[in-house]
Amino acid sequence: MSESDLPVPSIPNARDAVRALRPSQIREVANAGFGVADVLPFWFGESDRVTPAFIREAASASLAAGATFYTHNLGIAPLRAALAGYVSDLHGATSAQHIAVTSAGVNALMLAAQLVVGAGDRVVAVTPLWPNLVEIPKILGAHVETVALGYGERGWQLDLGQLLAALTPDTKMLLINSPNNPTGWVMSRDEQRAVLAHCRRHGIWIVADEVYERLYYANAEPGAAGAPSRTAPSFLDLATRDERVICINSFSKAWLMTGWRLGWIVAPAALMDDLGKLVEYNTSCAPAFVQQAGIAAIEQGECFTQELVRDLKASRDHLVSALASVPGVDVKAPPGAMYLFFSMPGASRSLELCKAMVRDVGLGVAPGSAFGPQGEGFVRWCYACDTARLDAGVERLKRFLREHAAAQ
Ligand SMILES: Cc1ncc(COP(=O)(O)O)c(C=O)c1O
Repeated sequence: MSESDLPVPSIPNARDAVRALRPSQIREVANAGFGVADVLPFWFGESDRVTPAFIREAASASLAAGATFYTHNLGIAPLRAALAGYVSDLHGATSAQHIAVTSAGVNALMLAAQLVVGAGDRVVAVTPLWPNLVEIPKILGAHVETVALGYGERGWQLDLGQLLAALTPDTKMLLINSPNNPTGWVMSRDEQRAVLAHCRRHGIWIVADEVYERLYYANAEPGAAGAPSRTAPSFLDLATRDERVICINSFSKAWLMTGWRLGWIVAPAALMDDLGKLVEYNTSCAPAFVQQAGIAAIEQGECFTQELVRDLKASRDHLVSALASVPGVDVKAPPGAMYLFFSMPGASRSLELCKAMVRDVGLGVAPGSAFGPQGEGFVRWCYACDTARLDAGVERLKRFLREHAAAQ
């Protein structure tokens, strides 16, 4: 038989679970903006400012000194020790044995999911939610059920009874992101207490994505008094370090290090050997010079982070009042993260709306439907930039609404 007689193989496909993953609708909007001159991009979750110089210099010095080798899977000892000190300071005693360094938050989420869930497992997630959290367990064959936050007079709120009812004894893992992307919702201490007690009773793992914990504007809450808290309520404040709670964190947001890919996990010490194996088979380690930059961020970055949070709060308030003056926009100041998630005319078909806004007036915001069906009717605007740029964006939004009202 010659080679030309062999049957032609069928077109190769990825596994069904992978093919079923949702593509990013934020990318879809960004693609619609290709070729449009002068787009103002507010669609991604990052600041327009570069990482602070003292962090970049630490990485350069480390690289110049030859830090080009593999490290321990769980991270270099000085970074794990620095993170243990940082987490202890914010949330109570935590040792380096409870810390694993990861290649940013998204890798930490994958590692946590790989540790805990497999094919057929039931996972519950509170939505609207950054899509990666919902899609990652699906790669592993898990089923993800969602519990939706509700939107009303007081902004986004959790129906605690509904969440507890969804956390059935056969649930393997709860995914909770607070402060939340996209809504800015922050879970209260009492809600965390009730959820932790319930999950303890049923042996459910809590994977808490707390990458925005420092972007918390405590005195935004009605009736709040006193100095703003340095961090949002965390499951780490309530849980022991050796129970079924895994906390995900990242250098991306509080130190403006999105492109560096550095994060960490706080987890029971008993998991660390297995977690080390997973790191080995995913990325092997975070780059050594990036980890050195992480030490600089932790040891010298507190003033920077506190100033950043003050700036973000000012930007949030600026954008809220600018948007509140736009007819048909319903916007409230959320207590955390770096986004406004608001409704506006046309947002009931948010993907089409966002594509039209980028095409027609060069305004780049993310469609609410990118964060699950519960996000439909809203758009997300990242306000981590200077106020002049926010004002220019609001002018474009007004122009778009004027032109579309005129066209109807
Ligand atoms: C809720 C949430 N978790 C995790 C991440 C991961 O960020 P990174 O991988 O840059 O640490 C993001 C990024 O936007 C996020 O919004």
